[in-house]
Amino acid sequence: RAGELARDVGMEAYAVGGFIRDILLNTPNSDLDLVVEGDGIAFARTLAQSMGGRVRAHHKFRTAVVILENGQRIDVATARLEYYEYPAALPTVELSSIKMDLYRRDFTINALAVQLNPANFGKLVDFFGAQRDIKNRVVRVLHSLSFVEDPTRILRAIRFAKRYNFRIGGQTDRLIRNAMQLDMIPKLSGSRIFHELNLIFEEEHAVDCLRQMRDYRLLEAIHPLLTLTPAQENLLEEIEKVRDWYRLLYLDEKPRNWMIYLLAVFNGMPEEDILSVCTRLNLTKRQSSDILTLRTQTNETVYRFKMWRHRGGPVSELFFMLEMLPLEGLLFFMSRYNQEEVRKSLSMYLTQLKGMELDVSGRDLKGMGLEPGPLYGEILRKLRAAMLDGQATCRDDQLALARR
Ligand code: CTP
Repeated sequence: RAGELARDVGMEAYAVGGFIRDILLNTPNSDLDLVVEGDGIAFARTLAQSMGGRVRAHHKFRTAVVILENGQRIDVATARLEYYEYPAALPTVELSSIKMDLYRRDFTINALAVQLNPANFGKLVDFFGAQRDIKNRVVRVLHSLSFVEDPTRILRAIRFAKRYNFRIGGQTDRLIRNAMQLDMIPKLSGSRIFHELNLIFEEEHAVDCLRQMRDYRLLEAIHPLLTLTPAQENLLEEIEKVRDWYRLLYLDEKPRNWMIYLLAVFNGMPEEDILSVCTRLNLTKRQSSDILTLRTQTNETVYRFKMWRHRGGPVSELFFMLEMLPLEGLLFFMSRYNQEEVRKSLSMYLTQLKGMELDVSGRDLKGMGLEPGPLYGEILRKLRAAMLDGQATCRDDQLALARR
């Protein structure tokens, strides 16, 4: 459809980037990016009108996002020759705008396009040997200034290499080391680094990425106190196992992975060092304090859990102990203490206890003539404990207990 529309308005449209890369790699990817030789924003409007959707335009960048009624997003960018000033002095006049658009991208594997106009529909446009690189499983930059122009691409190179089990090409590897020597990383803003780290923490092979970052001395370049000791590495590996375990529970709530990974990276560090790294990463005050609180809470939970198990405490106590922790804390707790009994208890908590509702509410207590106040909370908590421990499992039993 996009190709026909482009033809009708006299433009050339291409599907580009990760979407095409992932088709060739047989990997699912639903992020469709389009580039048009022409006015991208006008094209996005035509597309939205024809397919039913709305447009959010960024005039400064001549890009737009089409948000279809089913929620799918299509990014539309404008390929324009005069837009790019390239220090890597290629005779720009010789390049079509799509070629220029692809040339300014990070890696060859991301610099593929497919023509959408009906006359050439489906034709793969590969100016820079992307197909060969995908076949040889190698991440390769398009030109030697790539990392100097945008040092976050070092993190991206690692992320793609680990995700697809590619290697980083020889020359690209040298360019990374060169950029490291030029001290490019310390100049990067905390937010940009944190954004990239966040993406890494969403990857299946996040720990491998961190290892590679350490090997390039990237961690210490981000902050001298960032290390990856064998103990931290072990903990990170546990996190990866726990993430897999949690995924298999098929629960709706998704953890904020960055919190869990940062907790592991911060393990054993004094509080002021943690805060210093958080400041470098430009975390908000709230995010930093959440991390510190979570750390304390998890430490306490490890201790309390051991006591509970030792005493053979009731289920309700387990519930009230775990209820204190947000999901990230629960998963970090399990990573710290990944033993059969913890897995069992957590799984029971997440899949059963957490969803159990009392059959009695504040309204019932009011109906009994009780004045609303702190007492309500206390009574409901007792009722919940009784329910969890199997002593008051139906409404009548709970009401009777409340009356007492
Ligand atoms: N890009 C780039 N340099 C960057 C970031 C992005 O050249 N620092 C380019 C890449 O060519 C990429 C495109 O912009 O294909 C879109 O970026 P993004 O959505 O981050 O990349 P994807 O390849 O879609 O990555 P992912 O699969 O992780 O979503």
